[in-house]
Amino acid sequence: MQDEVQLHDKVFKKFITEAEIQSSIKSLVERIERDYEGMELLLLPVLNGSFMFASDLMKEMSKNVSVSFVKVSSYQGNMQTSGRVDELIGLNSSIVGKHVLIIEDIVDTGITIDKVLTLLRAHYPAGVEVCTMLYKPEAYEGKNPPKYVGIEIPNRFVVGYGLDYNEYGRNLKEIYQLKEE
Ligand code: PRP
Repeated sequence: MQDEVQLHDKVFKKFITEAEIQSSIKSLVERIERDYEGMELLLLPVLNGSFMFASDLMKEMSKNVSVSFVKVSSYQGNMQTSGRVDELIGLNSSIVGKHVLIIEDIVDTGITIDKVLTLLRAHYPAGVEVCTMLYKPEAYEGKNPPKYVGIEIPNRFVVGYGLDYNEYGRNLKEIYQLKEE
């Protein structure tokens, strides 16, 4: 792992190694496979940041599992609704009666997962939980704290392993934090 990486105008220093990430994924998968024993599980990774975590998580799973990558799209509503309207795009098929696990790279303020949960519940799944690689409890302001957390971190600006700074850094295998912090 490099000590530092430069992305655009900022320097980031090493924070979480690849080995720590992969070992937390092993523990998460053990828990998930135990909890969903004998159940049909559908993974819903939220794009873009979750692609790398979703891939590693799935490679570690030994049970049959389906996946559908989703995104929250926010658009300007019409005159009647006024303001912005959120829409969930990317669901491949009906989730009625299915056990759904939302996959996130990071839960920060919790705004994104609250939106996804609200939109998903309108589709009548059997149950919905959240699995995130990183969780910032100090920054969290939502109503649905994630059930499955890889690593809890302080409220710092982090990049790598899917997370970006102005779109750079997603390809890094490890997680880095902003150097000035
Ligand atoms: C990031 C991350 C989560 C969200 C977490 O996504 O992937 O979805 O922010 O933040 P929150 O808990 O404060 O809502 P972002 O919107 O930056 O898009 P990206 O995944 O395409 O980078």
